[in-house]
Amino acid sequence: MSDIARMSFPPDPSGPRGATRAKVDRTRRPWWTRLGPSLLLTAGLAGCQGRQAVLNPMGEDAASLATLFWVMLGGAVVLWLLVTGLFIYVTRFRTTEMSRRWAEALIIGGGVIFPTTVLAGLLSYSLPLMATQRTEGDGVVVHVTGEQWWWRVTYETPEGARVVSANEIRLPVGARTTFRLTANQVIHSFWIPALGGKTDMIPGRENWMSLKPTEAGLFRGQCTEFCGASHALMAFEVEAMAPEDFEAWLDREARDAAPPASAAAERGAALFAAEGCGACHTVRGTDAIGRVGPDLTHVGSRHSIGAGILPNDVEAIADWIERTEHLKPEVDMPQYDHLPREALLDLGRYLKGLE
Ligand code: CUA
Repeated sequence: MSDIARMSFPPDPSGPRGATRAKVDRTRRPWWTRLGPSLLLTAGLAGCQGRQAVLNPMGEDAASLATLFWVMLGGAVVLWLLVTGLFIYVTRFRTTEMSRRWAEALIIGGGVIFPTTVLAGLLSYSLPLMATQRTEGDGVVVHVTGEQWWWRVTYETPEGARVVSANEIRLPVGARTTFRLTANQVIHSFWIPALGGKTDMIPGRENWMSLKPTEAGLFRGQCTEFCGASHALMAFEVEAMAPEDFEAWLDREARDAAPPASAAAERGAALFAAEGCGACHTVRGTDAIGRVGPDLTHVGSRHSIGAGILPNDVEAIADWIERTEHLKPEVDMPQYDHLPREALLDLGRYLKGLE
């Protein structure tokens, strides 16, 4: 949005009418240069590129949705051309009165039979596509709960083991993974545009869907149901990996946290305990067993922090702890702005080391 807001729109070159018209016309630019801002705006809004793009599919479900979009667009363009062509024909070329037989044929053929056929065709093409995302996967099941404003993520293996994580989802490429979705307080909506459609997350209810990434890569997911002050700041990273890499990653994710590896990280760990962080956060293998906030056992290995809003490095972690309420308005986590910067950096070094 900020790019669009920064774009400048030139004043209307057609200018005032009447006496000054001739003067204004001399400075007139070619008509097509006036299209520039509109085209830029359209391209920006369409968002056809990047790792959160519906029309840049990286999964089976997103690919069928993209095809559906193009088929629908094609159908709409054909209809528009036909109707416009007909309109031009009867207003410009066919100036004599039409016979009653022709007029009736035009109304029934063009107004009833043609649109019914086209719409029925598009409907029968699109309806079967809905079934795919309702196919159960046979690998891990990913349970995701929408919180204010972050994502609680639990992987359930076919053997029944559960691995708790947060704010990031990793998936095996080529396999269909089932998502079981719910929410804690208000309705959220789970959407990974590059992989497929969206599903609402509703408190007290479990919805489900499945997704099948077809290419490895890093994508972005976003909450798409207005859920409060920081709705727009409720995102997550999605990494689709080769199946063997995914297995190895899940193995590591299931382990307890690594002990602090430096003196600074040790100071950070002591501070983490002293400031009571463990009342809300879990770091498996330590005394921190809180369940209010995101599990931090392997937070250092994630691609971002704060639910997709900051890079994952020591400086950003320190910034986050110091200014949570500024960075994510109305978030539950209080900001620790009473701590000196060096202490915040030690906390950052400890958390970044939790890989
Ligand atoms: Cu969660 Cu919008």
